[in-house]
Amino acid sequence: MKTIKTIAEAKKFLKQARLQGLTIGLVPTMGYLHEGHLTLMRECKKKCDLTVVSIFVNPLQFGPKEDFSGYPRDLGRDSSLAEGVGVDLLFCPEPQEVYPANYSTYVDVEGLTGVLCGKSRPGHFRGVTTVVNKLFNIVRPDYAFFGQKDAQQVLVIKKMVRDLLMDLEIITVPIVRESDGLALSSRNVYLSREERRAALVLSLSLIMARDAVKSGENNVALLKDRVRQMISAEPLARIDYVEILSLPDLAEINSLEAPALLALAVFFGKTRLIDNVVLES
Ligand code: PAJ
Repeated sequence: MKTIKTIAEAKKFLKQARLQGLTIGLVPTMGYLHEGHLTLMRECKKKCDLTVVSIFVNPLQFGPKEDFSGYPRDLGRDSSLAEGVGVDLLFCPEPQEVYPANYSTYVDVEGLTGVLCGKSRPGHFRGVTTVVNKLFNIVRPDYAFFGQKDAQQVLVIKKMVRDLLMDLEIITVPIVRESDGLALSSRNVYLSREERRAALVLSLSLIMARDAVKSGENNVALLKDRVRQMISAEPLARIDYVEILSLPDLAEINSLEAPALLALAVFFGKTRLIDNVVLES
């Protein structure tokens, strides 16, 4: 596995790969890799000749009161995990090179970013789409891989790709969970033992809603209430949002006529976790 830190070197390496006619796949990450990230990499390897993984904790997508400086980082461990999966290129640029002192250009996807995490974390998706756009310009991948764990993020990126006529395909990979149901996240390391146990209410409430829909319930207000009640019964949980929105536009709906997204964001102590399921009857 090759590791590159500068944009110029990465571009040079990838230009060679393109000249050789290789299909290039990109898995953008913020590092502190877990099985969710590794699954994206394996999917990338299946589909592409060259697998590129970026590790960059993107300051632009963190709010002023969020965990940018404390975000877990361990490049040594990440390198060996990526190498173990057979990643070809690990690209870890420095923030000063990605955002030099006079930096002033941003990508903003309107509409879709006004709800869910976009509402709770103003500016977050502008940071995501700006950095992902830059990574696409550096790597120029044929395919880029994103996890359904961040369901809104994939929808926003797909919209950006469509709106800006970008020449690549976005592949969505299902959520990877622990055996007890908790969705893997780099932020799970923040949880105390008690919070970790309490956080199981997220996947359990998603399963409850999914089963209710399968048995015929299609009233959105009622389903949201049942999920809220179940989460609120857990004393360590503090709900940020529980929403059921249409796919792929994330519009409000009253009843389930077509597959819709049930998305949750819930605090356990200072740690905000997200999870989701696609509801279909
Ligand atoms: P990060 O949180 O590191 O996640 C990188 C990718 O891994 C995302 O596409 C995310 O959806 C996926 N992922 C995380 N946990 C997962 C799980 N349990 N199952 C499946 N996929 C999972 O998302 C970001 O970084 C950043 O916003 C980024 C896109 C890199 C832009 O900075």
